[in-house]
Formats: sequence, structure tokens, C-alpha cells
Amino acid sequence: MLRFILIVATFVAVEGHGDATFSKRNDPLPDLVAFWPLNNKHFLDDISDNQNHATDPWNNVTLTYKTYRSCTVYEFRGNPSSYLVFPNNGNDFDTRRSTTTMAWVCPYGNPVPIFYFDPTLNDKGVQISQVITGGAPSGLSASVKFTKRDGIPPVTPLEKEIPALNTWYHLAVVYDYENGMGHLYLNGNLESAPFEGEIATQYDAQAGAALLPQEWFNGSITCIQIYNRTLTEAEIKAAI
Ligand SMILES: *[C@@H]1O[C@H](CO)[C@@H](O)[C@H](O)[C@H]1NC(C)=O
Ligand SMILES: *[C@@H]1O[C@H](CO)[C@@H](O)[C@H](O)[C@H]1NC(C)=O
Ligand SMILES: *[C@@H]1O[C@H](CO)[C@@H](O)[C@H](O)[C@H]1NC(C)=O
Repeated sequence: MLRFILIVATFVAVEGHGDATFSKRNDPLPDLVAFWPLNNKHFLDDISDNQNHATDPWNNVTLTYKTYRSCTVYEFRGNPSSYLVFPNNGNDFDTRRSTTTMAWVCPYGNPVPIFYFDPTLNDKGVQISQVITGGAPSGLSASVKFTKRDGIPPVTPLEKEIPALNTWYHLAVVYDYENGMGHLYLNGNLESAPFEGEIATQYDAQAGAALLPQEWFNGSITCIQIYNRTLTEAEIKAAI
């Protein structure tokens, strides 16, 4: 009798494992913990299983049709009421170890935070922004600051020049806990820096206006995705 139960249990276990493998194979990229397409099909919805839908507190971020990307995107107006909040309910996108965050961005001009954890900007987690760079044709670089859970030591930000204003670029920021390497990909080009530790991604995230310092993004953003692991360059290209 015991042997029979064991055989049944083994069969059920093998079946269960088979199902898991099958569903994983059908899922193009597993470990997706947040996905806001930010278009006229899904609006502010998070279409990952976690469903942490974004909110537009002042109703001052606008769904806009952009001919050069032949799709709809959200446009930020460069003022303090123009921002989106991404609630990290149950720490669903707390990717404290390895992480990949990506988005499409079209800047109209100013150096500002684009997408960041912790709306107070005290702890930041992963802060994606634009900073002024003397030599760049656009005058701006995309930048990522990773902040460690314990904050110590500070991590040197990674920067990559933005080709031009009013032009879309794709940004992916990656942290690999196993190798202790942070990466910034701008249109697939890579900058990297070493650091070790867990990153402070336990907060809500925000895009657009920031409170401290008071800076607000003027431009468009679409298709923000967060994964709980290090994507390879090929996987990033597929996810784009
Ligand atoms: C944002 O950019 C647009 C397009 O370049 C410009 O017309 C507008 O004045 C800018 N807004 C702010 C607040 O800078
Ligand atoms: C929304 O943005 C517009 C245009 O920049 C501005 O005039 C208006 O005051 C903003 N609305 C709120 C509620 O702040
Ligand atoms: C991400 O993966 C780590 C294991 O590497 C796990 O401990 C953590 O709970 C995961 N976080 C989310 C938000 O899925």
C-alpha cells in the first residue's frame, strides 16, 4: 500500500513539474514582476501578474499619439503635477538582488529624474535620470544611480550620452547580484560598474516630477518593465 502511494505521489510530482516546464516555455521572459505598457490599450495598467496599476494623482500626464513611434505614449509636461506613481504593493517589484528595468524615453530637454524608487528620493533604489553632459550632441546623458539597501558605500552612477532630443531611445538598467556588476544599456550600448550588495527597491516607484530636489521631466515615456533577474543583451533586445 505504501509503495502504491509513493508511486502515485511520484507520478503527481512528475506531472506537476511537467506543467511548470510547459508554462515556462510558453512565457517569453519569466521573472517579469511589473509591466506598464503605457499605451491606449492598457493605459496605466500593470499587465504582469502583480497588477500594480499606476496612478496619475493630478491627472496631468497625457496619453498622446506619436507618429514617429506609431503608437500611443504618455507625455509628461515638465511641471510639479505631471507624474505617475507605481505602487509597490506587497513589495511585488522589490528586486533587491538581480534586476532589470527598462523603458522607452523621448526627452524634450531638461535634466531630471525619469523613473525612480522612493518618491521622496531619500533612498532611490534604482534612479534613472537625465544629467547635463558638456560634449553630448543633446547636451544630456542618461544616468542610473543604484542605491544599496544599507546605503554604504555610495555607488558611482553610470552615464551614457543621449543621441538627440525629441528622439526615442531605449534604456535598460541591470544589476547582477552574483557578479556584483551594474549595467546601463542605451540603445544596446553598454556601460558597466562593479559594486556589491542588495539594492533599495522596496519602495513605490515614480516617473516624471520629483519632490526633492524639485525637478520635472518634460518628454514622453512608454513601456516600462521590471524583471527580477539579470537579462542578457539578447533578452533585452527581445523584450524591447
Ligand atoms: C516642454 O517641451 C515642449 C516641447 O519642446 C515645450 O513646448 C514646452 O514649453 C516644454 N515645457 C516646459 C515646462 O519646459
Ligand atoms: C497641469 O499642467 C498644466 C500645463 O503645464 C498646468 O497649467 C496646470 O496648472 C497643471 N494642473 C495642475 C492640477 O497642477
Ligand atoms: C526576486 O528573487 C529573489 C531570489 O533571487 C527572491 O528572494 C525575491 O523574493 C524575488 N522578488 C520578487 C519581487 O519576486
